[in-house]
Amino acid sequence: MRRIISISSGKGGVGKTTFAINFALSLSQVAPTILLDLDTGTSSVRNTIDTPVTQDLYHFFRRGARLDECLTTLDARLDPAGNFKNFAFVAGPRHVIDEITNMREESRWRLMQAINGLDARYIVLDLKAGLDANVIDYLPLSNSSILVFTPHHPAATLAAGDIVKSLLFRKLRFIFAEGSPFFGSEGNEQHQAMINGLLNQVEDVYDERLKNLDDFMIDLYEALGDNPYLRAISEVLNSFGVYFVLNMFDGIEESYQTTIRPFVEYLRTYVSAKLHLTNLGWVVNDARIHEANCQRRPILLQTLNRQESSVDAIRREIASLESSILGLENMRVPESAAPASILDELTRIDPTCTVERQLEILQHMYHSQGQQRVRENFAYITHRALHVMQHLPPDSFGHPRLFSPLEIFDQLMPKRAPIEEASLP
Ligand SMILES: Nc1ncnc2c1ncn2[C@@H]1O[C@H](COP(=O)(O)OP(=O)(O)O)[C@@H](O)[C@H]1O
Ligand SMILES: [Mg+2]
Repeated sequence: MRRIISISSGKGGVGKTTFAINFALSLSQVAPTILLDLDTGTSSVRNTIDTPVTQDLYHFFRRGARLDECLTTLDARLDPAGNFKNFAFVAGPRHVIDEITNMREESRWRLMQAINGLDARYIVLDLKAGLDANVIDYLPLSNSSILVFTPHHPAATLAAGDIVKSLLFRKLRFIFAEGSPFFGSEGNEQHQAMINGLLNQVEDVYDERLKNLDDFMIDLYEALGDNPYLRAISEVLNSFGVYFVLNMFDGIEESYQTTIRPFVEYLRTYVSAKLHLTNLGWVVNDARIHEANCQRRPILLQTLNRQESSVDAIRREIASLESSILGLENMRVPESAAPASILDELTRIDPTCTVERQLEILQHMYHSQGQQRVRENFAYITHRALHVMQHLPPDSFGHPRLFSPLEIFDQLMPKRAPIEEASLP
């Protein structure tokens, strides 16, 4: 099954491209992998990989080339031993072109369909920084895919929290859109207006009345008692996975205090305390990574020093680690059995989400990973991501395809009569 892994960050400069390139290189050692540079306007992937590009997204948008005709494989100089034969990338255009910088829905959907048709096991998307449809539409419905942040850029960490919030609200807006079967065949306009009004209050940080979705659920319970809307929101929150990678890791204490703690607290305050968080690992802050980028030969393509390779050891170690240590045990398929009481459900906070638990996981990971070298950081994250994909259903991580808004709507409301495009939210 094809798996798409989107890499995003609230802001630029956190090492998203560096991570995306080395992560894709690392995945390609497992199965064919394609990296797409969707960080519009920066052309950063091609500038970091010293390989001639003959066709890129310009050719896709302006010259009628198929996306698979715009693939670039590594120049033999960069990969003399052919270790990365399964790696290819689609470069961004050499200069700004409007279809990409201001990608409209139509171009975006054309590109999304082409991505869905690519022949590779893993597809890694290096998304642009920030938060608009050119980021959100490439992210899955039920998880954050990989967020990258760093202790060196606190504003980017909070912006990553905003991405999570936007994804959750996108899903809830779809679920509670006009015409949703939730409101019955007659359409309960009063409830629809009330729910969307409350969602507006939560989403608007300037509106003090409702701070987050947990408060929203309690309000909704007080207004209507146990009700299907409440259960739907609870289900969305319980099944939503947040995955992140720390770049430029500087040790447990610093990374925890300046990055994980504020991230978790932001989510708890403005979104919900119920989200499942998974730290996929970290990449240390190392001048060699930066130098490798400047030489246009990413760190994983630097000549391998024999003692440095221990991917097999990492694989063994991950296999032997209890999944509880990896913080995976509670990332599960939502239980089918209804909770004992809706109030229990409302007030129950998953222990994997607490700040303290995140520190504990970080310490466990450091215990096993602390002495690793730079390139092993990427191998560790890759194997952890593969582990997640193996053990959880596809909508938990690594989305099998990208969906247009219309398809999302259909997917969330399977029993509804076909709708007109115009009536979409
Ligand atoms: N782990 C790291 N250690 C040292 N330098 C890094 C690391 N990750 C990224 N960099 C450097 O930080 C800068 C920003 O990285 P880049 O990958 O372009 O970020 P983004 O794509 O988020 O804008 C680059 O100069 C890069 O070489
Ligand atoms: Mg970048």
